[in-house]
Amino acid sequence: MRESPVRHMSGGAEGAARRLWSHTPVGSSRSNHQPGDAQYFADLRAYRYGYETPFIPRFFDFPRMKDRTVLEIGVGNGIDAVEMARHGAIYTGIDITVRHIELTRQNFAVSGLAPSRILCGDLLQTDVGGPFDFIYSFGVLHHVGPEADYLSRARRLLAPGGRLLIGLYSKYSFFNAYLLATWGLRAGRGVTLDDWRSHCAELSPLRDPVTIRIRSRREVQSLLRDCGFAVKRYGKRGFVQAYIPVLGRWLSPDGVTLNACGAALGWYHLFECSAAQAPDGGTER
Ligand SMILES: C[S@@+](CC[C@H](N)C(=O)[O-])C[C@H]1O[C@@H](n2cnc3c(N)ncnc32)[C@H](O)[C@@H]1O
Repeated sequence: MRESPVRHMSGGAEGAARRLWSHTPVGSSRSNHQPGDAQYFADLRAYRYGYETPFIPRFFDFPRMKDRTVLEIGVGNGIDAVEMARHGAIYTGIDITVRHIELTRQNFAVSGLAPSRILCGDLLQTDVGGPFDFIYSFGVLHHVGPEADYLSRARRLLAPGGRLLIGLYSKYSFFNAYLLATWGLRAGRGVTLDDWRSHCAELSPLRDPVTIRIRSRREVQSLLRDCGFAVKRYGKRGFVQAYIPVLGRWLSPDGVTLNACGAALGWYHLFECSAAQAPDGGTER
């Protein structure tokens, strides 16, 4: 298999992420409106909570964030940020892509919410304040280079009794099987599986993919344990109507059937974690 030229492009995982999402904000293909318009955010919200990932607010239980401090890593268009803030969270967000920072600020403005603390930078090099009652990150950590460093930093930023809430891609999923099958059939010579995955899942150019790590539940659990977390709750979701030809459209996006399919073959691992307890009953650092 030929090596992709992207391996020689600058900036590693963060560089590719910045290039992709500065050019095309995440999810922007879901709206015909200009990124930043009120209707743009409404379209993205409807797609996110009405079709693709309707389980997010309920699984992560946004209402419990009222008057609690929340740090979000990787804000995207700020759809979840606005939802958490509407539920009364004392919100801070961080993202490496300027475009996403601007869009999230615009989303707060068009939603009539007071501006929140939204920082541009790398979590490892930015003073974000804290500690935080919740650290939330959906669809981000599988894209970052030094993932264990991010998780360890998140661990240090967690308040006593705080929770880490994350969503990550799952290896044993319908979508990953689809990516494998289409890579074999349609990708063409010289396109690596990583290039293809990033192209299909994130709409990146074939020659400049973003990093994507696809792992089993066990692999993520072991990473979390190594970084000082104890898993308190786990779920697997992310099975959409379009995966079931003809009949799928009659199924509720957040109903029993699609959630059962998601529990077996969903695209997202969902984890809620606390800080691990040291053997002496203290909290490990
Ligand atoms: C796939 S998007 C997910 C965005 C949002 N959480 C969502 O679910 O729509 C990944 C986000 O993570 C951000 N990102 C990627 N690498 C990052 C890093 N090292 N530090 C902070 N944010 C990062 C990107 O700019 C982008 O906003």
